[in-house]
Amino acid sequence: TPLALWGGRFSGGPAAALAALSKSTHFDWRLAPYDLAGSRAHARVLHRAGLLADASLRTMLAALRQLGDDVASGAFAPAPDDEDVHTALERGLIERAGPEVGGRLRAGRSRNDQIATLFRMYLRDHARTCSALVLDVVDALIDQAGAAGEAPMPGRTHLQHAQPVLLAHHLLAHAWALLRDVDRWRDWDTRTSVSPYGSGALAGSSLGLDPELVAQDLGFDGAVENSIDGTASRDFVAEFCFVAAMAAVDVSRIAEEVILWATKEFGFIALDDAFSTGSSIMPQKKNPDVAELARGKAGRLIGDLAGLLATLKALPLAYNRDLQEDKEPVFDAVDTLHVLLPAFAGMIATMRFDTDRLAALAPQGFSLATDVAEWLVRQGVPFRVAHEVAGSCVRVCEERGIELWELSDDDLVGIHEALTPGVREVLSVEGSLASRDGRGGTAPQQVREQLSRARQVSAWH
Ligand code: ARG
Repeated sequence: TPLALWGGRFSGGPAAALAALSKSTHFDWRLAPYDLAGSRAHARVLHRAGLLADASLRTMLAALRQLGDDVASGAFAPAPDDEDVHTALERGLIERAGPEVGGRLRAGRSRNDQIATLFRMYLRDHARTCSALVLDVVDALIDQAGAAGEAPMPGRTHLQHAQPVLLAHHLLAHAWALLRDVDRWRDWDTRTSVSPYGSGALAGSSLGLDPELVAQDLGFDGAVENSIDGTASRDFVAEFCFVAAMAAVDVSRIAEEVILWATKEFGFIALDDAFSTGSSIMPQKKNPDVAELARGKAGRLIGDLAGLLATLKALPLAYNRDLQEDKEPVFDAVDTLHVLLPAFAGMIATMRFDTDRLAALAPQGFSLATDVAEWLVRQGVPFRVAHEVAGSCVRVCEERGIELWELSDDDLVGIHEALTPGVREVLSVEGSLASRDGRGGTAPQQVREQLSRARQVSAWH
């Protein structure tokens, strides 16, 4: 029969079907190093409270250290009968320290406060690893923006030509969104840096153990205010999952553009061979699979978040076994980001832009019409009139199949008396770009400053 943690009032072990349902070692084993760190800290407060003799503490810490080495080397692994990471490691400890000393560690703690603490430790580490991977994508975008210099491209709204923008400006728009995701993990960390260890099952410990000491030992800023909240709440997991999903959604927005840009019709970019795939039947194909997988995996991360929230909804206080279902979604989110982001950063870093084509398309689709209207406003024409006049210019051009800058001086004054040849200063992409020189605008000088601020923010993280 399995070594259960609750032998006393039970006449036999759990049914095999229950044991199979209950088991979580196949996914919670990754928390083993954190559980061991928690156990070392717990042994020290037991000792401090006079519940563990000096010699026993030494035996205990040595056994935990040995167990940690064995876990790392693979010499110790969960057995089929171990229910979860905590059960397995308690067995490992007792095997190494003997039942007399090993059996003392469980005093004053519960798997409920253990798991709540370990999970925070694990996620705090991975907020950092995930942030670093997102920052690699940010840096790839920033480098491409730097390389793009003053190259223009068609800016779009509703996917229709809207106004010319700098390619660097467009790429940096994605970088800022991802920098906010990294910022979210930072904010999250300040809220998550409190330790539930010492909350016990729910009501706290009667053994005079100091939760603040354990918290410090485990790298937290302090201990939780409320032992019930500490053991029952998982908003820190949901919030982590949200940030992961948001980062994936932000990446998927880039992915969608990369997929469009790589089509024959757009022809904006060429993907590097190392970051595209071929077809098993069509020899000519070069497919943007990295971007498509990014778009697809964003859906998966949204599912992780939605599934987790559904688990948490309407759970009464305090710990409920439903909470064992909180781990797989967020582990999946972490693992998915760890395979996705390096490939995505590589794809961004190695894609090549056809800047001639981007420049040729930038003024098409009458994307300079707003410039005509705003030029008229600067000549004192009310915007309502200016908008009408610029619209008339577009209509005339459409009728004749020409572009705005192909209207003659006579055509222009014929449409409105204020349309003197001076308007030609904004009837070029360069003129249009240079005129949008307010903060955050697409004028080259503004984009240069924006680029250096993005570099600073990325480096600061
Ligand atoms: N494996 C459990 C979990 O992940 C640990 C806590 C179990 N506590 C309990 N009282 N059964 O949530």
